[in-house]
Amino acid sequence: MFRLRCQAGGVIHAHTAGARADPSRSARSGAPGYCRAVPPGDHIAAARAVYAASAERYIEFVGTEISSATEAPIDRALLNAFVELVRAGTSRRVADIGCGPGRAAAFLAQHDLDVIGFDVSPAMLAAARTAHPEIHFEEGRLDDLPIAHASLAGVVCWYSIIYTPPDHLGAVFTELERVLNPGGHLLLGFQAGSGDPVHRPEAHGTAFSLTGFRHSPADVTSRLELAGLEVRATAVREADFEHEQTPQAFVLARKMPR
Ligand SMILES: C[S@@+](CC[C@H](N)C(=O)[O-])C[C@H]1O[C@@H](n2cnc3c(N)ncnc32)[C@H](O)[C@@H]1O
Repeated sequence: MFRLRCQAGGVIHAHTAGARADPSRSARSGAPGYCRAVPPGDHIAAARAVYAASAERYIEFVGTEISSATEAPIDRALLNAFVELVRAGTSRRVADIGCGPGRAAAFLAQHDLDVIGFDVSPAMLAAARTAHPEIHFEEGRLDDLPIAHASLAGVVCWYSIIYTPPDHLGAVFTELERVLNPGGHLLLGFQAGSGDPVHRPEAHGTAFSLTGFRHSPADVTSRLELAGLEVRATAVREADFEHEQTPQAFVLARKMPR
């Protein structure tokens, strides 16, 4: 498992280790006491700060491509299903939001989709651009995307809603609904649980505190529907990898066709 190093004077609050990492797992620092916490409740600043410090190690751990080392067969099957659903329509314009190093974006591009990647972390975006120079990556957050209304045939959020508190998911799903074309598809992947925050200040004696959310698939589903999206499939598989502590959930939804 990779470790998180805090930059002196930096701003660090939360961390998960690895793409499929569980938000309850702690990161370790050799330099306790050097970090200040981000303002409580600012989950975007937390994600940005954490990945500024940990992008390199994250990539060492998960790589820059979707692979059998980090994605189980069911996970990859759902990514393939998403591709097939989008390709059945007329537009191939899709986004990977919370793209990290662009693993899902690269998968979608390799399957002939026209993809753009968004993330809140400049460090992750820099890594994504280096790994996948043929793909466009831009700064953007799940609840406020620099994309026109109804401009995408599909959106993938692959383990990027895991820092968003459940009561903010509605704002995220409303924004995703806004940018999708009528009939457009959404694929979410996340660690499954009951939605409670998993917060560990100075976890395991480190300088870092940790907040993540194992969202409840039922809660995610009902918030998607409230945002006007139709849930088409939900899959929950058991933990498959050493770095997974919980079942993993996947939800396919779509914006209703006109
Ligand atoms: C666990 S990583 C997953 C990265 C990538 N999807 C993958 O599978 O490798 C979570 C990513 O989501 C990004 N992120 C977290 N909250 C976000 C938000 N509200 N808007 C956009 N990106 C976000 C983080 O910066 C980070 O790159």
